[in-house]
Amino acid sequence: MKKIKKVGVLGSGLMGSGIAEIAARAGYETVVREISSELVDKGLQKVHGSLGKAVEKGKLEAADRDAAVARLSGTVDLGALADCDVVVEAIVENLEEKRKTFSALDQVVQPDAIFASNTSSLTITQMAMFTQRPEKFVGLHFFNPVPVMKLVEVVRTLLTSQEAYDAAIEVVRGFGKEPVTARDNSGFLVNRLLVPYLLDAVRAYEEGVGSIEDIDKAMQLGCGYPMGPFTLLDFVGLDTTYYIANIMFDEYREKRFAPPPLLKQMVLAGRLGRKSGRGFYEHSRK
Ligand code: 3HC
Repeated sequence: MKKIKKVGVLGSGLMGSGIAEIAARAGYETVVREISSELVDKGLQKVHGSLGKAVEKGKLEAADRDAAVARLSGTVDLGALADCDVVVEAIVENLEEKRKTFSALDQVVQPDAIFASNTSSLTITQMAMFTQRPEKFVGLHFFNPVPVMKLVEVVRTLLTSQEAYDAAIEVVRGFGKEPVTARDNSGFLVNRLLVPYLLDAVRAYEEGVGSIEDIDKAMQLGCGYPMGPFTLLDFVGLDTTYYIANIMFDEYREKRFAPPPLLKQMVLAGRLGRKSGRGFYEHSRK
């Protein structure tokens, strides 16, 4: 198997900047591509800020931070990813945007490189077919916050070659994460279980079973979950959860994936969680 040395990351939002951070920290030459120089700067600042915090907390040596910063670069030019061994896409969850990005990427990146998408809801097989290398295409689904959460779901399609799958497992381990393997079914492993649970918490509240605070407290203290379902909904984003639930409902046509009316109303009302300052709870904006 070819040694993975250079990692490309498409998108430097919450997930993309986290992926870039762990890749650079793990010793890979890392290049992040964004669609404008303002977004490139913002993304790099996020990574530098997070690395700085790790140093402050004594989790990272200053010299290792400097080495990670030196391994990381930002660009608006897809061509800068030409010699990457792996490219992880973490752009907006919009199929047409992904199609445009992957078909352009396919033209410029060396043919041996593995392509991966961090999508949480779209079909990996469909994206693989946007390229001339569907056998080298996998899903790599990371969790928020990326620097903290240990898991990455490796999604293997009907077309993924054994070699590409092995390389994906290797890169996940190289990032210091633990892989699990999932089929290309909507929601993979985690969201297939997590999303119905979150939706059910909203239903329980709608039905008057308990207050938001008590439902959260119950799951946190009764089951040892780090966050109760409403705190987690605010953390993930109500819009994101609503979007994923709709896609899963479309695929499975099962009631457990159907977003409850309150979730829809909150999204329409702009109460999206932490990102908008208010969801099920009030949040002070940073
Ligand atoms: N970057 C780096 N480190 C971070 C961080 C971030 N964004 N956020 C928190 N941390 C670190 C803190 O520095 C701290 O480290 P320390 O213990 O060494 O000092 C540690 O994580 C714990 O943080 P805090 O003490 O601030 O707060 P908590 O103990 O509440 O932990 C949490 C925060 C790690 C987010 C924890 O509450 C948690 O695990 N929550 C559940 C998160 C979860 O379920 N994520 C998955 C969401 S689903 C998803 O992403 C899939 C998508 O498709 C929807």
